Amino acid sequence: MNKTIIVSNRLPLQVSIQDNSFKVVPSVGGLATGMKSVHAEGNGIWIGWSGIPENDLRPELSDEIDSKIRDEKCVSVPLTNEDIEEYYEGFSNRALWPLFHYFMEYSNFEQKEWEAYKRVNEKFAEVVIDNLEDGDTVWVHDYQLLLLPQLIKDRKPNTTIGFFLHIPFPSYEIFRTFPWREEILTGMLGADLLGFHTYDYERHFLSSVKRIMRLEVQFNEISYHDRIIKVDSFPMGIDYDKFHNAALEHDNDSEEKSDLRKRLEEHISEDKKLILSIDRMDYTKGIPNRIKAFEYFLDNYPEYKEKVRLVMLAVPSRSNVPQYQKLKRETDELVGRINGKFATVSWTPIWYFYRSMPFNNLIDLYTSSDVALITPIRDGMNLVAKEYVATRTKGNGVLILSEMAGASKEMNEALLINPNSYEDFANSLKRALTMPLEEQQTRIKFLQKRLKRYDVEKWADEFLKSLEDTKNSKNENVTKKLTEDYEADLISTFNEKNKRLLLLDYDGTLVGFKDNPQDAEPDEALFSLLDKLHEKTTLVLISGRDKDTFQRWFGHKPYNLVTDHGVWLYKNKEWNALERIKTDWMQNIRPILETFVDRTPGTFIETKNYSLAWHYRKADPELAKIRTIELNTVLTSMVANNGLSILKGNKVIEIKSSNVNKGRVVSRLLTQDNYDFVSIFGDDWTDEYMFEEAPESAYTIKVGYTKTKAKYQIQGTEKVRELLEKLAQ
Ligand code: ADP
Ligand code: G6P
Repeated sequence: MNKTIIVSNRLPLQVSIQDNSFKVVPSVGGLATGMKSVHAEGNGIWIGWSGIPENDLRPELSDEIDSKIRDEKCVSVPLTNEDIEEYYEGFSNRALWPLFHYFMEYSNFEQKEWEAYKRVNEKFAEVVIDNLEDGDTVWVHDYQLLLLPQLIKDRKPNTTIGFFLHIPFPSYEIFRTFPWREEILTGMLGADLLGFHTYDYERHFLSSVKRIMRLEVQFNEISYHDRIIKVDSFPMGIDYDKFHNAALEHDNDSEEKSDLRKRLEEHISEDKKLILSIDRMDYTKGIPNRIKAFEYFLDNYPEYKEKVRLVMLAVPSRSNVPQYQKLKRETDELVGRINGKFATVSWTPIWYFYRSMPFNNLIDLYTSSDVALITPIRDGMNLVAKEYVATRTKGNGVLILSEMAGASKEMNEALLINPNSYEDFANSLKRALTMPLEEQQTRIKFLQKRLKRYDVEKWADEFLKSLEDTKNSKNENVTKKLTEDYEADLISTFNEKNKRLLLLDYDGTLVGFKDNPQDAEPDEALFSLLDKLHEKTTLVLISGRDKDTFQRWFGHKPYNLVTDHGVWLYKNKEWNALERIKTDWMQNIRPILETFVDRTPGTFIETKNYSLAWHYRKADPELAKIRTIELNTVLTSMVANNGLSILKGNKVIEIKSSNVNKGRVVSRLLTQDNYDFVSIFGDDWTDEYMFEEAPESAYTIKVGYTKTKAKYQIQGTEKVRELLEKLAQ
């Protein structure tokens, strides 16, 4: 049976060695806690790091540890101390994490750590490949493994691969500062489906793909080589029932109370309230800010002194990374200062725990608190906010949530605040503490309804369903991919026949695009290929290029040339006009194009003998998209009455006379001789006219995988040349 392989840096369980034995505890963090129930339900395996460095693993314990890990349907990836230092603490948490959370000043880019990141992603790839069977689906998670999708795709191209990012994807302006930005995007694009928590992260990712990789993006689909990659947002949910039921049990279970719960209950009464915050000790979570804002609140609303208490649980995290050590010191100092400033004999304003807690104690905290104060400076999603809501079995309680958490996008009924504004903080806290019960219940019930419906299981189902759909559409996309049979048929028919016609478009078919069209000159290898073909067939280079350029490039050669989309034919070393063309319209259209050049940096006008072309290859792709729509609207009204048409080429819009197109040339050539073999190669819209006019028996081949009337598609100019070489042999 096919299985789903989950891959993440950390396994859901963490092993640590203590004296002569080992201890296993559940991992903290949204990824592990969220995916745990998804993993438990399915038949798949989870590949990741167990938490112990390979160097610390004692031989006498390793079998036992392995079997414990296997029992949990997990497979561990062995990491050395060096890997952990350079790939995990280094590249993942000193370069990627801060940058993706907009803490640019904390980002540190080291070549050595980048090398380690590549090396460890390779290690993960090897373990995945060892465990992969045909038909399995691979689901890669998070920023530590951004290169993994492509590494797997390279080795197993038919595997369906999903990727989910659990942290924000930053805006292009931030991401472009990253030294290895192209490599990172290429790694991610190995996936067939890429998921993000919110639409904003998705939008940022697509914008980087367009600008950095210069790839075509249609809505949320990226065309990449012969694949269509889908990008979508899936806001991660929680295991709602687990938290809700645990809270219900907690309500009923008044006999066996934990010590923590007893202590908390001593401090709850009608006029005394608990305010809760739970986070990993991470600078993105806004812990110092929250403490300072709490001080501001007590200064501005002194009537709440001795009435409210902030219970702050900070879970130790990444404590070898200097920024985290600094944060710990700062937090300790702040808590000390504020407690020192406000404490009385019977009251300390902040209860601060720096440790991990078992699940039951988490539930104690959630259910005992009147307000949850979740105020990260930046957070991919934040599951704690959702867990708090799920445990409010009586519908009371108020959630104050930062607008900068992904969760805020779907939790409008919370009190949303800007975590950088102390005033916003203090006002919302006051509002929460005085909110009528009925309003609390209305808000909580609304939030609970959504969390229950879109829980983590639904989230995973939706992702995997969408991934499965990409598998089906993948097949649709590649139906026109050149098959070995068609290629063999083309070559053998070509060799059998006597009267052959070969029509080749130039730009995008025989040579790749350059920023400046004049730089796309033919190279020696191309001349030699065309010479050989010319020996065997009637060879026609057919292009939108102007006559002068082609005369300069090919005038010394015996091939037939068609230029200006079909205005001129060069045959037996002589130019003849195929069409009589007027050009007086140019004086009206050019000023319009000039206004577009002025307003769109990176664009320019190419003046040909019979047409005007506006090139936008070097422009910002998003601006260019808007401008092409505008230009099209402006031109459409003008061209209709003037016998002109608009051609949308590859990053170019061209205006030319309507009665010229490459299709008319094809019809004309076909009537001039009795060809028994016809083949046409082209790459853009202007070449579709040729495919339309081609006889049924013709071998038509489109370069690239966008929609076409050609019979088959091929990847790029290199592949075209390889195929033509075979014909020329
Ligand atoms: P992040 O993924 O950045 O750590 P989230 O809020 O999304 O933040 O996820 C934190 C997860 O860790 C939650 O599921 C929460 O229940 C769990 N968690 C937080 N604190 C503790 C703790 N002290 N002990 C155990 N689990 C915790
Ligand atoms: C966040 C990340 C996870 C990570 C978790 C805990 O949730 O998105 O990938 O596992 O924090 O961090 P840690 O570094 O301890 O794995």
